[in-house]
Amino acid sequence: MISQQSFDAVTAMFERVSGIQLGESKRALVTGRLQKLAQTRGLQDVDRYVQALLDENDPEELVRVVDKLTTNETYFFREPEHFDFLASLLEARPRGAGSFRVWSAASSSGEEAYSIAMVLADRLGAGGWEVVGTDLSTAMVDAARRALYPMERARHVPVAYLKRFCRKGHGEYEGQLLVARELRDRVHFTQANLMQPLPDLGSFDLIFLRNVLIYFDPASKEAIARRVLGLLKPGGHLFTGHAESLASTSLRLRTVKPAVYAHA
Ligand SMILES: C[S@@+](CC[C@H](N)C(=O)[O-])C[C@H]1O[C@@H](n2cnc3c(N)ncnc32)[C@H](O)[C@@H]1O
Repeated sequence: MISQQSFDAVTAMFERVSGIQLGESKRALVTGRLQKLAQTRGLQDVDRYVQALLDENDPEELVRVVDKLTTNETYFFREPEHFDFLASLLEARPRGAGSFRVWSAASSSGEEAYSIAMVLADRLGAGGWEVVGTDLSTAMVDAARRALYPMERARHVPVAYLKRFCRKGHGEYEGQLLVARELRDRVHFTQANLMQPLPDLGSFDLIFLRNVLIYFDPASKEAIARRVLGLLKPGGHLFTGHAESLASTSLRLRTVKPAVYAHA
């Protein structure tokens, strides 16, 4: 197990970068994840790895540590009520209403952004929409751009969408699926830290900020939601995870559905 001193040093660095506090209960998890990085450098001992990390202060190695310590669990069509609501919003949308832009604001390996894209392509056709995905982890941004997933991740994708938007891998890609080019062309990923001023992403009709606020203390959660809402168009909707209510914040929001908000 990692020593108290190394644990404190690494978690303080991680909190400075990501805003996420990893408490004492995460000590075994942190040890396991850093052990993997230590091994790639031929070190058996996690504490020696942390010492090297602190001595060298190499930005690329720090990125690798942040990538390892983020929790990236996600899957296609997670929290399906939101995708039903998305389809109903598109149904009610007047024709010729201009380009429809959606932001997946903690996109992890991209499954959420591509699930949104499947619904948009189905309801709006090949053009007139765009999805932007951002994540703190550069490793996740790279994975999302590859758009290649183990087949079992697709178990919640509606069959019609699976046939239409997913290509089955052969040969060295056996057991994997690739998201179709028609979607990949309209879904763009870039690295962004929600704890810092955001890059110029434009404004959005819908923002998915799901299953990320849960990692932050109330003040950081509110600051992130406020920053993100600055990019929501008037009349747009903000989606959070169902376990991530914004009700106790001082943000001027109206609850439209469970875990769906609009400007008040
Ligand atoms: C559990 S995943 C959520 C994925 C997807 N939104 C979903 O609901 O399934 C949380 C993601 O938040 C990202 N994350 C954590 N802190 C962040 C920050 N400060 N800025 C941007 N992304 C962050 C992590 O890298 C991780 O990929």
